[in-house]
Amino acid sequence: MPLCKISPALWFVLVSLIQNVNGQTTDSIPSLREVFRNKFLIGASVSPINIHSEEGTVLKKHFNSLTAENVMKMGVIHPEPNRYAWSGPDSIASFARNHGMKLRGHTLVWHKQTPNWLFRASDGSKVSKETLLQRLREHIFAVAGRYRGQIYAWDVLNEAISDDPGTFYTRTPFMEICGEEFIEKIFRWAHEADPEALLFYNDYRETDPVKRKKIIEMVTRLRDKGVPIHGIGLQGHWNIHSLRIDELEACLKDFAATGLILHITELDLSVWPGEPDRREMRPEDSINAYTMANASKQDALYGKIFATFLKYAQAIQAVTFWNITDRHSWLDEWPVRGRKDHPLLFDADLQPKFAFWKVVEQAEYHK
Ligand code: XIL
Repeated sequence: MPLCKISPALWFVLVSLIQNVNGQTTDSIPSLREVFRNKFLIGASVSPINIHSEEGTVLKKHFNSLTAENVMKMGVIHPEPNRYAWSGPDSIASFARNHGMKLRGHTLVWHKQTPNWLFRASDGSKVSKETLLQRLREHIFAVAGRYRGQIYAWDVLNEAISDDPGTFYTRTPFMEICGEEFIEKIFRWAHEADPEALLFYNDYRETDPVKRKKIIEMVTRLRDKGVPIHGIGLQGHWNIHSLRIDELEACLKDFAATGLILHITELDLSVWPGEPDRREMRPEDSINAYTMANASKQDALYGKIFATFLKYAQAIQAVTFWNITDRHSWLDEWPVRGRKDHPLLFDADLQPKFAFWKVVEQAEYHK
């Protein structure tokens, strides 16, 4: 093979081998955020604990954007009517500041991980629409107000569109009590609370054309009414068995055509088949799904995913992974508690996987 045909990723490996032979200690692993410097931000979701753990070293080298995995969600940050738990989110915000990283806010309104008190009046009955809207307003002003100027983009609303093709919105207490007008209101309040922040609608399974059409319809209606909404978030919780690159491409194409900014907000690529609901562990879940065959499928797919992102780099501003390395992923708990997954670019020893090199290679090709 002529030398010029060697892929950039292979070059890195060869150079690092030569350096090791020479006894040099230079770190030859490129930084992901530098590799994508002129394309998009590279983010990870974090907890106040893991930013200071060993995984924090990977974070500091490869990422330039953070999202709080849980501590900014309403149930955690606002557990009781008049109590906000600021210390966790504050520590993530100050870590981002100290390391020159951007910060995404996740999430102002979501029907999951929401505290029960929000929907209950003092006598325990269901809260009225006026009260719920007032509580949402206060929450948004308190949280988006506190991080004003620090959070560059907020997921204002998470997962409101139904997976059922025949239903537009998911049935949630917000929708039942307030009707769809709450959506417009929360975007307007978020904009008032932090006029500089980019405001996003965030969801999953947007590669499904029916769900995607509904999302586009919703954001278009909002924009036509002059509601401040700047972007669509694609969670991107995919798996190696069902992700189709042609469907991903169609999705990015349709979303890019709206003219809104796109963020990939929660990227991971499970080695297990996708399942919608939590269930108990079964004997077959204890096998190692990270086989050679699955690993190489994952490597190749990660390369193709990033090749597709790069094709739409004009529209995509940021790509955030959901967690940092395979040492700890939320998929170790979901949908089967205790079942190990390997969905990220760094392995459980914090080393880059082949998938990492496939991704780096794509950036080199699109320079
Ligand atoms: C997940 C967290 O990663 C878990 O730690 C938590 O137990 C449940 O929520 N979509 C989202 C994220 O928008 O907020 C979810 O995060 C994953 C699915």
